[in-house]
Amino acid sequence: MIRRGRALPWEKQYETVAKASEGRVIRASDSSNASKMGTRVTRPSDKKLFREKLRRAVLSATKAKCIPTFQLVLNGHSAIQVAMGNKFRLGVLGSGKGSNFVAIAIACAMGKIPAEVGIVLSDDESAGILTRASERKIAAHFIPPGKFRTKLDEDAERAFVGALQMLQLDLIVLAGFMRVLKGEFLRAFEGRIVNIHPSLLPSFPGLEAWKQALDHGVKLTGCTVHFVDAGVDSGAIIGQQSVPVLDNDTPEILHHRIQGAEHELYPKCIAAIARGEISVAGRRVIRKIS
Ligand code: GAR
Repeated sequence: MIRRGRALPWEKQYETVAKASEGRVIRASDSSNASKMGTRVTRPSDKKLFREKLRRAVLSATKAKCIPTFQLVLNGHSAIQVAMGNKFRLGVLGSGKGSNFVAIAIACAMGKIPAEVGIVLSDDESAGILTRASERKIAAHFIPPGKFRTKLDEDAERAFVGALQMLQLDLIVLAGFMRVLKGEFLRAFEGRIVNIHPSLLPSFPGLEAWKQALDHGVKLTGCTVHFVDAGVDSGAIIGQQSVPVLDNDTPEILHHRIQGAEHELYPKCIAAIARGEISVAGRRVIRKIS
């Protein structure tokens, strides 16, 4: 279900970029010195010429033993800088402070997850997750979500999908992304989107699940990592970790304790997927240990 360990030659990767970008790639260069060494490929009207220029730029970066890097213009205003590689790659989406992203990025850096984070995208310009990613020199971009409060509008959805497709990502990781993903997004990454939810699903889907658990009076709650489908927090469950509810808990204290569990569970589940240990039969996610 999940592709793993691609080792595509640069030429092949360039083909994909050229196809996905539909002429929006404006510069290809080496990643260390993008502005000086770049070959400019500025929206040529001649598609053939554009592809040839792009091909040459990628080859020269490869010859110089550099990672080809592409700068893409989204929506005519924001630019995204992306470097191509051949590791299992994650695209992380978040709207909040980014503590799950940090746990995942640390696990990648320590080799506990055999993957790298290719890009972080947010629907909130002031989200801490963007700062946390920039601090780690991971491409981080805000994409305006459009006019709706709980989902992306059509243009925004297209911009998110375009930016993520460009990078040939293996897995889309929702880490506190507070919008429901719909049609085009789900089709583009079918079976390759995971989410973390702060309750033991199917109990307490939706917003502020820790508060729902407290109000309901359960003695045990926790967190769930699941594949994303068209419903709200309803996809097949990959992993769960329980957390006790204590008599003197406030919503904040309980959420904090659940987050501790999230930071352990999410990296473990992503690592299992990246290692190809996960298979799905109906609603059941089976982990085979190799
Ligand atoms: C996490 O607790 C996550 O479970 C929750 O948002 C928080 C994000 O925190 N997600 C949802 O409620 C999704 N339904 P973070 O930005 O510190 O990772």
